[in-house]
Amino acid sequence: MSRPASGRGIHHSPRVHRAFTDHQVSRRIPRALCKWNPDHQREDRSVTITDIQMLPMADHVRGKRSAVTCHFKCANACLGPECNTSANPHFRDIASAALTRRALLGLGAAGAVGIALAAATPGGSATAAPGGSASVPGGLAFDAIAPVSNIVDDFNVPAGYTWEPIIRWGDPLFSSVPALDFENQTAEAQAGQFGYNCDYLDIIADGSGRTGVLVSNHEYVNPGLMFPPSSDAAELDRRAAIYKAAHGFSVVELRRNKIGQPWRYLVDGRRNRRITADTVFDVTGPAAGSDLMKTAADPEGRWIKGTLGNCAGGTTPWGTVLSGEENFDGYFAWAADTAGQKRYRATPSSASTYTFERIDPRFDAHDAGYVNEPNRFGWIVEIDPEDPTATPRKHSAMGRFKHEGANVIIAEDGHAVAYMGDDQANDYLYKFVSRDTFDPGSTPVARRRNLGLLTEGDLYVARFTGNSPAAEITGSGALPTDGLFDGTGEWIPLTQNGESVIPGMTTEEVLVFTRLAADGVGATKMDRPEDVEPNPKTRKVYLALTNNSSRTLATVDEANPVTGNRNGHVIELTETAGQSGTAFGWSILLLCGNPAVDQNTYFAGFPKELVSPISCPDNVAFDSDGDLWISTDGAPSKIGFNDGLFKVPLEGPDRGRVQQFLSVPRDAETCGPVIHDQEGMVFVAVQHPGENGSVAAPNSHFPDYVPTHRPETGLVAAPRPSVVQVWRA
Ligand code: FEO
Ligand code: CA
Ligand code: CA
Repeated sequence: MSRPASGRGIHHSPRVHRAFTDHQVSRRIPRALCKWNPDHQREDRSVTITDIQMLPMADHVRGKRSAVTCHFKCANACLGPECNTSANPHFRDIASAALTRRALLGLGAAGAVGIALAAATPGGSATAAPGGSASVPGGLAFDAIAPVSNIVDDFNVPAGYTWEPIIRWGDPLFSSVPALDFENQTAEAQAGQFGYNCDYLDIIADGSGRTGVLVSNHEYVNPGLMFPPSSDAAELDRRAAIYKAAHGFSVVELRRNKIGQPWRYLVDGRRNRRITADTVFDVTGPAAGSDLMKTAADPEGRWIKGTLGNCAGGTTPWGTVLSGEENFDGYFAWAADTAGQKRYRATPSSASTYTFERIDPRFDAHDAGYVNEPNRFGWIVEIDPEDPTATPRKHSAMGRFKHEGANVIIAEDGHAVAYMGDDQANDYLYKFVSRDTFDPGSTPVARRRNLGLLTEGDLYVARFTGNSPAAEITGSGALPTDGLFDGTGEWIPLTQNGESVIPGMTTEEVLVFTRLAADGVGATKMDRPEDVEPNPKTRKVYLALTNNSSRTLATVDEANPVTGNRNGHVIELTETAGQSGTAFGWSILLLCGNPAVDQNTYFAGFPKELVSPISCPDNVAFDSDGDLWISTDGAPSKIGFNDGLFKVPLEGPDRGRVQQFLSVPRDAETCGPVIHDQEGMVFVAVQHPGENGSVAAPNSHFPDYVPTHRPETGLVAAPRPSVVQVWRA
C-alpha cells in the first residue's frame, strides 16, 4: 500500500475569530463576573484558609483520578495488574554508598545549611501568611488564591487578574468548518475544529510580539460529555469517527494589538493545522523499517497513521513541539500475550475503549495483519508548527513507553538532551542524548540540521541511590537524620553509539520494548514520572512524580519515600558530569499534600503553615526568573480541592514556598502551563472539565456557562476543554 500524502488540506484567507469580540477584554468587569460571558454569575464558593482545616478528606479511589478519567484516559491502568513485574530491585535493595551531601550534589554543605536557616528565619517573606503577596518584582506579582472546593465549577485567578478562553473544544480553525453545533456533531467538522482534552500547550510569539502561534495536543475524549447515551451501532460507529478526529494536535495562529494584551486566534491562519488519529507520521531512527513496526497497511514499517494519548510535551530550542504518546494501550483490542506486549498492557482486551476497531481494522491487534499496530504508538512525536505541510514524525531513537512528554536542553557540549518520564506506577525516568550537536545559527541550513537531532542518539534510564540508611526511610515521609531525601544517580545506557548494549536484545527491540530493556539494568522504579523539565536558568532538572498507590513499606526508597504515596512529590536533579553526562545528584524538593492534615509533607524546608496545599504534581514550567510552576492532576480526589497552578521559588529564603496562582473548574485537570511573567500573562490548558458528569446531568458548564446550547452565538452548555489566558485586569 502506498504511503498517504500528508498536509492539512484546507486553506483560506485569514480572518480573526469573532466569537469573543462582544466581550471587550480591555473593559474592566467586576471580578464576580465571568470575564468573557457577562451572563455568567460566578459562584463565590472558594474556601478560605481557615475553612481548609474543617474540610473532610474526600473518599479516595485507588488511583489519583475519578473513575471516569481512569476509564477513558488511561484504560484503568492503576486498577489492573502491574505492568512492571520485573525483579529489577527497588533501590533500597541496592547497597547505598556512604557519601556526603557535599559530594553528592556538588554543592557546599555550608550553602545548603544557609538556605535552610534563611527559610526558618523570622522576618521577610518567610513569615508571610498563606495568600500573602508573592515576592516577585515585575510582571506576575500576585496574592496566592485560597484553595477552591472540588465541587466549585469556576476558574479562579488572583485579585487583579482576569481570564478568558483563547480557544475551546469545537472552535473552527478554518472558515469552511462550522462552529461547534453540539447537537449535530460530525467527524468532518471535528477534523477542522479544536480537538478535545487539550494537554500540552505552548504560546509561541513571533518577533513582533503581536503575532504568534498556539500549539496544543488533544489527549483523549469523554463520550459521556460529548453525547447522550446510545445503543445504536451505526450511531456509535459514527461517533467513533468523531472521537478519532478529536485527538491529535491543533496549531492555530494568534493575533493581538499590543504585547501584554490577550491573544485572539485567527481562523484560516497560515499555520493553522489539525493533526488527528488519521494524519500520517514518518518514523525516524533505528526502528524505522523494523519488522516490529510492519503492518498490513504499512509493510515497510516506516509511516504511521495518527497519534494518540498525547500528554505533556516540550518546545525545542529549534522551534518544534514534542509530545508524548502516553496511554496508547487502551486504544487497541489486543492479545497482550508476549513479554513485550505485557510490559505495556498487563491484560488482553477484546474491545478497545472507544471501539475504533469497529470502523478501522488496524485497532484490532488480534488481526495478524495488525498485531504490530500497538508497537507504532508510545513514541515521542515532533511537529513543526512553522510548516503546516511538514510531515510530523515519531522518533524511535527516543524509546517507546507511556511517554508523558519530552523536554530538551542543549548540553554544554552542544548535544541535545531530552528528559522523559514513563507515566505508570513503578516505571522509569529516561534521558536521550543526540548523536549530533545543535547548530545555533538561524539559517535554513541550521534549522534543517536541528530538525534531525532527535533521529539518532543514545537512550539512558535513571538509577537513584540514596545516601541515608534504609532504616531511616520509614514510609511516613519523616526526613532521615541528614535532613534530606537525597543522593546520587546514574544514567544507565540502553544504547551506545546508537546500538543496543542490552544482552539478548537488538537495537530495534530495545527501542520498541524499552521497558523490558530498562528492567534488566537496575533502573529505579518511580512513583509515576510525569513531566520532567530542565530549568533554563540553572540547568537543574525537575521531575514531577504524581503519586503511587502501590508504593509499600517493602518498596519505599529514598527517592520514593512515602508508602501509598497519595499526593506525589517533586525531585530536583543536578547533573554532576555535564548535561549529557551519566552522573547526577538529586534531592526531594517537595513532598506534596495539605500540610494542615497530611503529616508527610515537605516544602524544601519552608514553613508548612505558610504554603498553599498541593497534590498530584503533573506538569512543570519555569518563569524568566527561574521559578518553578507546577500544575496538578488529581487534587480533587486527594485533598478535596480543585486542581490548580502553583508557583514555587527555588532560590533564596522563599525556596519551597508553594503559592497557588489559579484553580480550574470542577473535575478538571490543569495542564500545559505557559508562564510569560514579563508580560504578566499565564496560559493553561483546562482538561476534562466536568469529567464526572453527563450530558443530562452536567457537573460543569465551563467556559461558556450557559444553561442550554446557543448555536446562534456559538455557546454550548456542555463543558468544553479550553486553552485559557490569564492576564492583569
Ligand atoms: Fe496524561 Fe501522565 O498524564
Ligand atoms: Ca539523605
Ligand atoms: Ca500529565
